[in-house]
Amino acid sequence: MTQSTLEIRRLVFADLPNVIAIERRAFPTPWSLAMFVLELSKSEGICLAALRDGQLAGYTICSRFDQVWHIMNVSVDPDLQRRGIATAMIDEILRRVGDRAQITLEVRPTNAPALALYERFGFLSAGTRARYYQDNGEDAVIMWRTEATLRGSLDGLPAAEARPVAAP
Ligand SMILES: CC(C)(COP(=O)(O)OP(=O)(O)OC[C@H]1O[C@@H](n2cnc3c(N)ncnc32)[C@H](O)[C@@H]1OP(=O)(O)O)[C@@H](O)C(=O)NCCC(=O)NCCS
Repeated sequence: MTQSTLEIRRLVFADLPNVIAIERRAFPTPWSLAMFVLELSKSEGICLAALRDGQLAGYTICSRFDQVWHIMNVSVDPDLQRRGIATAMIDEILRRVGDRAQITLEVRPTNAPALALYERFGFLSAGTRARYYQDNGEDAVIMWRTEATLRGSLDGLPAAEARPVAAP
């Protein structure tokens, strides 16, 4: 049996039809084509494609806002999840932004797979953004990965984001 291959490379405009096809299957409220075009147009962003046996299997969009990197989208084809594809893409983001980078993201509190994925990379929950998701009014969990979170501390996060997550 031949081993399947995984390649991580820059996401390009020509990938977008396949991106949209995965996006619509992976998310209840998928991004529009225009949102991907906007992100790919930003010169400082890190937009990656994961190709499994040469076919698009996942993608990630990471934007830079001043000193902070923001992971805006991570998505893997539902038929190809749990094979380390998101891990490979986030590894590559971390390699590109460097060890000292501050990285943030929002995630649904009900998205257990994504929460587990990010926690494995040293992201900590640092607060909530009220009614962030328009489809169901769900709050977002705000996560950060910084030198401090890697030591298990929320020290030094931008003040507005550092509110503790409400106890369940
Ligand atoms: C979240 C998502 C990107 C993970 O992609 P993936 O390629 O399946 O993730 P990986 O195989 O690299 O998983 C790495 C780790 O994340 C955690 N994880 C991933 N999927 C999980 C699941 N369904 N249940 C529990 N933990 C999970 C596990 O710790 C896993 O390690 P393990 O397989 O050794 O236990 C994928 O489920 C997805 O595309 N979901 C829909 C879109 C989405 O919600 N994106 C995130 C928005 S914030």
